[in-house]
Amino acid sequence: MKERTLSIIKPDGVSRNLIGEVIRRIDGQAIKIVAMKMILMTKQQAKGFYAVHEGKPFFESVTDFMSSGPCVVMILEGEDAIKRYRKLMGATNYKDAEEGTIRREFAKDIEKNIVHGSDSRETAEFEIGYFFNKLEITGN
Ligand code: CMP
Repeated sequence: MKERTLSIIKPDGVSRNLIGEVIRRIDGQAIKIVAMKMILMTKQQAKGFYAVHEGKPFFESVTDFMSSGPCVVMILEGEDAIKRYRKLMGATNYKDAEEGTIRREFAKDIEKNIVHGSDSRETAEFEIGYFFNKLEITGN
């Protein structure tokens, strides 16, 4: 079923010049980019985005990291977009990620893992609304 997911190229992906590489891989799929922009989150904004992880041991560190430099945020749309994009990214921990996935090929550690993708429809709805308003999404 056609759905939307939120994708982020994280500060490590941007600083390592991997924006083009990630977009090329998305473009090779049956999913399309319907919104895209570059942002620099404050620590507070990163905390709001990762609110579901509040209290976890990595919460402070990941929100420091996500507010340390610019990110590219995108909305992807297509059949099974959530699952397809997660397959393209690979597991959160690059050591567990399948061969050929973005994280397996480029991530350096579990935190600096290049990309983020929503994990369910509910999460996608929250995450898309966190960064984009209706006017910024093409095809509405
Ligand atoms: P992401 O898919 O964006 O979701 C939460 C992020 O926290 C994750 O990717 C990693 O960047 C970071 N993180 C750091 N340590 C862990 C951990 N032990 N488990 C899950 N996520 C972690």
